[in-house]
Amino acid sequence: MASASFQNVTKRFPEGEIAVKDMSLEVKDGEFLIVLGPSGCGKSTALRMLAGAEDVTEGVIKIGETVVNNVPSRNRDVAMVFQTYALYPHMSVFDNMAFSLRLQGVDQADIARRVNRAAEIVGLGPFLKRLPRQLSGGEQQRVALGRAIVRDPQLFLFDEPLSSLDANLRGHMRVELQKIHRALGATFLYVTHDQVEAMTLGDRIAVMNDGVLQQVAPPSVMYEHPANMFVAGFIGTPAMNLIPVAVSGKTAKGSALQIELPREPRLTAGVLGIRPEALHEDASRGEPTIDVQVNQAEMLGRDQLLYGTVGDNAIVARVDPHVKISLGERVQLGIDMESIHLFDAKTGQAVL
Ligand SMILES: Nc1ncnc2c1ncn2[C@@H]1O[C@H](COP(=O)(O)OP(=O)(O)OP(=O)(O)O)[C@@H](O)[C@H]1O
Ligand SMILES: [Mg+2]
Repeated sequence: MASASFQNVTKRFPEGEIAVKDMSLEVKDGEFLIVLGPSGCGKSTALRMLAGAEDVTEGVIKIGETVVNNVPSRNRDVAMVFQTYALYPHMSVFDNMAFSLRLQGVDQADIARRVNRAAEIVGLGPFLKRLPRQLSGGEQQRVALGRAIVRDPQLFLFDEPLSSLDANLRGHMRVELQKIHRALGATFLYVTHDQVEAMTLGDRIAVMNDGVLQQVAPPSVMYEHPANMFVAGFIGTPAMNLIPVAVSGKTAKGSALQIELPREPRLTAGVLGIRPEALHEDASRGEPTIDVQVNQAEMLGRDQLLYGTVGDNAIVARVDPHVKISLGERVQLGIDMESIHLFDAKTGQAVL
């Protein structure tokens, strides 16, 4: 097992494209750390630099206490699991898992022991004689995982390993991955653009955007205290409502909206952040309210989503499913002031 760290790491591709900018991140020993961000933000590049598949332009990468910038990939003791698992089609599950050990010249008995143990962990014991094409997508992905486990690496790197699976299987594999992480006690660094995956799997999440690390925090902290507007808008479905406001003293004024902030921020141009669930149909609790013109309602069972407008701004509210609302109607919704956010309109940084 091992920790790993990026210290002021930048990756510039030869064509001049900067994929990762001055990234500093520490993955703790035994941690399940998620790197989350939109397509093209530099997640895979960061992971590939740690694996040794990509050179570092500037900065230092360490595994444990060792600087690995110039250590070849095969000597880094990391195993990578990809979205496409590239199993050898003509080899059995056993042979697929045994392949790298045979290359290393590990003896037969040891290979059998390690493959059987890995097969046990990923739940493939009964499938060892099958060929990849005789397995479901999820089972094939587990072979890829088993192939990484047999190598007994210090560090597991995953690049969107579940994205080619259907939603059900993905949910199932998420649970499996957590079990495997616990069973191995190993360090996992896991890249995804799927925030549900990130929220459910990670001990901590590192959010990236445009090559820049935005925030590193446990899922609940990331959700409740996003450091900036990007993280606020990226985490949570539907996304947080972001409403431009002019601030004067403690008063925030927007289009068809005026509320008193809990304390006075030092700015004049702000963006108010209200999560859909911070709006509720009970407007009689003495909290500030807004008048929402409802255009669409979506019943989800446990709650319903109201889509509408407040002045010039689109807004989404997650309210009680029993509230009856006719489309086109204006409803007054209370704002849970405990959970509102305010961002600096210029920098995007959270100020409240
Ligand atoms: N070999 C390369 N040469 C030049 N530019 C590259 C290369 N690989 C990646 N890039 C660029 O670097 C940026 C980051 O790419 P990267 O693959 O790390 O993104 P990502 O976050 O993994 O995206 P996705 O979620 O789509 O996989 C992108 O703009 C991409 O076009
Ligand atoms: Mg990628």
